[in-house]
Amino acid sequence: MTTTTPHPTAPGTPAPTPRAVLAGIPAYVPKPPAPPAEGPAHRLFLNENPYPPLPSVRETIARAAAEAHHYPTIHPERLTHALARRLDVPPAHLVTGPGSVGIYQQIGQAVLEPGDEVVYAWPSFEAYPIVTRMAGAVPVEVPLADGVHDLDAMAAAVGPRTRAVLLCEPNNPTGTAVGAAALERFLDRVPGDVLVVLDEAYFEFYRSPDAPDGVALHHDRPNLVTLRTFSKAYGLAGMRVGYAVAQAPIAEALRKCAVPCGVGRVAEEAALTALEVEAELLERVERVVAERERTRAGLLGLGWEVLPSETNFLWLPAGSDAERVAGEWERRGLLVRAFPGDGLRVTVGSPEANDLLLTAAKETVPPAR
Ligand SMILES: Cc1ncc(COP(=O)(O)O)c(C=O)c1O
Repeated sequence: MTTTTPHPTAPGTPAPTPRAVLAGIPAYVPKPPAPPAEGPAHRLFLNENPYPPLPSVRETIARAAAEAHHYPTIHPERLTHALARRLDVPPAHLVTGPGSVGIYQQIGQAVLEPGDEVVYAWPSFEAYPIVTRMAGAVPVEVPLADGVHDLDAMAAAVGPRTRAVLLCEPNNPTGTAVGAAALERFLDRVPGDVLVVLDEAYFEFYRSPDAPDGVALHHDRPNLVTLRTFSKAYGLAGMRVGYAVAQAPIAEALRKCAVPCGVGRVAEEAALTALEVEAELLERVERVVAERERTRAGLLGLGWEVLPSETNFLWLPAGSDAERVAGEWERRGLLVRAFPGDGLRVTVGSPEANDLLLTAAKETVPPAR
């Protein structure tokens, strides 16, 4: 006689459950590919570089693609050493990852315990609440004051349970900056056992003479991690390469938490060539900065409110009109990012895209002040 045991996946049997903290994290649902836009659409919603890779970088990518059947090294060693030379830091102070968002996950794994508090401004980079919650840590969000980090309030928010402070300088999405003097005064107020993550994703676009340099600062500050990326000024967002600079003990902990081979071969080669042709890339950054100032002046002249920016994007505090304006501009092929109820973040595009934006702004009713 045979007995039948219920199949382990039969209805009613318990299913695996993800960690409870994931309930507080927005779900990613794969979307069907978008239909092609009518006419050229300008991607002004992700703070990308408007210029495609230089011919020399494209050649490298094509050459490296022929080797894509080989694994990369566990950590991108050639890139690590090239960055160490470029930044004049020991290789042991460098951490790489698949974009700086990859390094944020390494930070979460290396440093945060459930129940720890993480202090950051809001609105700021959208990864902050995700990394914090993913680790089971508690976000302590400190509102910006007039679009700028309120460093006094942030210092006051640091308490006995604070494990990390995340500081985006200049800030995404507002483009504003606090400057080196205020930043250093803030760093002096943060206890040494609290990690400060200084996100310098837009470092190369920062023109104020008071711009901080987290790499220089890290030499005297064992609790500082500075993040930079090849995605913005170096125009390699699609390749996914970011890096962090910190003193050896923290850098080593972050490297332990890296996804092995997380920076692919093609990405490593592309980043190496980008470093070699940096001068050419920084000329393009100069053009983006000039376009930023031209576009901001144009918008201000049309009566729009636009915060000063040290990045490759502009923040328009459009309040409850943000979605209306984004919708109107989208119909004109200008894809900008609306933060409902708050404002619009518009990447500085090509001169042609920026001209279209100025025309659209002229023909759109500005938000009520
Ligand atoms: C402040 C900030 N940090 C990090 C990133 C992500 O950069 P990456 O492409 O290196 O992951 C962005 C991207 O928009 C950003 O705005």
